[in-house]
Amino acid sequence: MSKVDVVIGCFYGDEGKGKVIDYLAADADVAVRATGGDNAGHTIKAGGVKYAMHLIPSGILSGHTTGIIGNGVVLNPKILLEEIANLKSHGYDVERYLKISDKAHVILPYHPMLDAALEGRRTKKIGTTGKGIGPSYCDKYERSGLRMEDLYAAGFAQKLKEAVESKKALLKFYGMAEEEFGDSLDFDGLYGLYCGYAEKLKPYVCDTLTYLHKALERDERVVVEGAQATLLDIDFGSYPFVTSSNPTIGGILTGTGLSALDIGNVYGVIKAYSSRVGEGPYVTELLDATGDKIRELGHEYGTTTGRPRRCGWLDLVALKYAKRVNGLTALAVNHLDTIGRFEKIRMCVAYDLDGTVTEDFSTNLELLDRAKPVYREFAGDFGDLSGCRKFEELPLAAREYIGFIEEYTGIPVKFIGTGAERESMLVRD
Ligand code: IMP
Repeated sequence: MSKVDVVIGCFYGDEGKGKVIDYLAADADVAVRATGGDNAGHTIKAGGVKYAMHLIPSGILSGHTTGIIGNGVVLNPKILLEEIANLKSHGYDVERYLKISDKAHVILPYHPMLDAALEGRRTKKIGTTGKGIGPSYCDKYERSGLRMEDLYAAGFAQKLKEAVESKKALLKFYGMAEEEFGDSLDFDGLYGLYCGYAEKLKPYVCDTLTYLHKALERDERVVVEGAQATLLDIDFGSYPFVTSSNPTIGGILTGTGLSALDIGNVYGVIKAYSSRVGEGPYVTELLDATGDKIRELGHEYGTTTGRPRRCGWLDLVALKYAKRVNGLTALAVNHLDTIGRFEKIRMCVAYDLDGTVTEDFSTNLELLDRAKPVYREFAGDFGDLSGCRKFEELPLAAREYIGFIEEYTGIPVKFIGTGAERESMLVRD
């Protein structure tokens, strides 16, 4: 039986997982999304066309890979149908290649409303994407959420009615007037709309757990496309400045029905520097001209929200933590060319907590606020890396930079991003 390859972001998301997924998907029979919703997003160029993928696994763009939206995903049908229509208009046989878990939870228009209402009331904002992700997961765990299978069940109207009534009461409690509810809390309108979505999505909905396990039994190659990243994990991230799911390895299992024994390679993706969108602690953040330069050189602006990303040096303390949480077997380091444009580069090798130096990451906010990064300096000026096809062809300074990441973390670096193009990636055996 074949083993599953998993791609996971190590820090705060936007590490460039898509590039590694593209590479793996070229040989993959199945690509799976396990967690999150349309808060994730990456733009992928395939056959000269740019696709903004938020929900459908980007592996589907290979043209021969089945994309699965797992049970751990919270799914906005409107966004999903737009993605399906776009793929179809470019000739993709979506009916054949897309499967949606019957257990995936559905986002309704009141979820983004609640997201905005909750964020508005917070004195310390989380900086959510506003897509209704948190409120939708709340419903899941509170056991009042609607799953895909509910849309086809006899009790759908009743469940939706109850949900609408409770959300009305909740929004009123948060100070919203009934006149502001609009179509988002009109039961008849919502019922018609979601019955329409259900009809259109019917061909794709199935028991994806069984599909996945049968694919493995047929020795097919399966890759799981992680969304968000380790430090945004609801348990292991910088709570509450996190997303509402587990983008780490545990969430990959519960979001798909795969078992621990099914997992093979766990690829951790990082950039040769770091970035973060939204609020929350960030030990190596650079609030100076160097941070601005990283943002400009790396084009660090959000795909989903367009927000400028906070930027800083690479944090090896946090990377070691990502290894511990996920069991990373290899790394992908993106943007080596970008960091190589600096004359001197720094990597954070420890945190200084008022004189106590540690290499152990903690998600305790008070500790993270106090932590001062201890840096080690490296030579930069890597020059043009676009012609390098093998690791050995990289300049010495670039090899030393990668070598130190390997030495510090004990994880081999398998993929190295050397340019903006998706093909600009060195792959080591
Ligand atoms: P939510 O997932 O919309 O609730 O947002 C919670 C936090 O996670 C915010 O700081 C977001 O900016 C961040 N976040 C959510 N999804 C992504 C992502 O795909 N990349 C980077 N940050 C994300």
